[in-house]
Amino acid sequence: MKIIHKIPEMQKITKKLHSANKTIGLVPTMGALHGGHISLIQRARKENDCVIVSIFVNPTQFGPNEDYLRYPRPFNKDVRMCKKYGVNYVFAPTPKEMYDINHLSYVTVEKLSNILCGEFRQGHFRGVTTVVTKLFNITQPDRAYFGEKDYQQLMIIQKMVNDLNFPVKIIPCPTIRENDGLALSSRNLCLSKNERIRAGKIYRILLRVKKLFHEKKLLSADKIVNYIKNEIRRVPGLRIQYVKICNSKTLDEIKGKLYSPARILIAVWDGKTRLIDNIEI
Ligand code: PAF
Repeated sequence: MKIIHKIPEMQKITKKLHSANKTIGLVPTMGALHGGHISLIQRARKENDCVIVSIFVNPTQFGPNEDYLRYPRPFNKDVRMCKKYGVNYVFAPTPKEMYDINHLSYVTVEKLSNILCGEFRQGHFRGVTTVVTKLFNITQPDRAYFGEKDYQQLMIIQKMVNDLNFPVKIIPCPTIRENDGLALSSRNLCLSKNERIRAGKIYRILLRVKKLFHEKKLLSADKIVNYIKNEIRRVPGLRIQYVKICNSKTLDEIKGKLYSPARILIAVWDGKTRLIDNIEI
């Protein structure tokens, strides 16, 4: 396994791989790798000749008061994990390498970037789509792997790839969870013991509400949202940022009678850590 820090070197390698008719699978990450990332790497390993994992905590997707500096960066551990799971290249550029002092170009997916998380994290998705575009241009992947845990991100990247004709197939991968249901996330490392315990309740509430819907005990989107909000409010220390039910394909909000395909999306503060989750209903 090779670790590459420079863009021209990575581009030279991917050009060579394509000339040799090798397929490339990219797993874009911000590091602090966990079981969710491993599942993406394993899928990429199965489907491609060559697997590239990018590790880059992307400054442009963090707001001025967000956790860019606090974001975990266990680089050596990440590298060991990549080696263990058969990654061929780790692409780990510095912020300076990715964003020249004169950087002026950004990629935006309109509308979808301003709702849900985008309403509370101005500029976040512009940062994501810009860095993902750069990573696609640098690594030229045939396939790129994204977790459904960041469902809005996945939809936005899929839309960008369709709208702008990127020659890459986006592979959505299921959310991996802890035993108590908490979705794996690098930010879980920031939770204290008590915060971690209460975080597990979020998914259990989503599962309960899904069951109530299928038993026809809660049918309208508004009632489901209210039920979830009330249950979260009963957990001391959790603060809701949003709970919405959206069309799973368009992310249009559903109000009133629920129809398929629909997904509940939620963002909750647990102490100083913001957690997101979602479930198809
Ligand atoms: O999901 C993430 O870890 C990041 O948003 C991504 C896609 C690697 C872009 O920085």
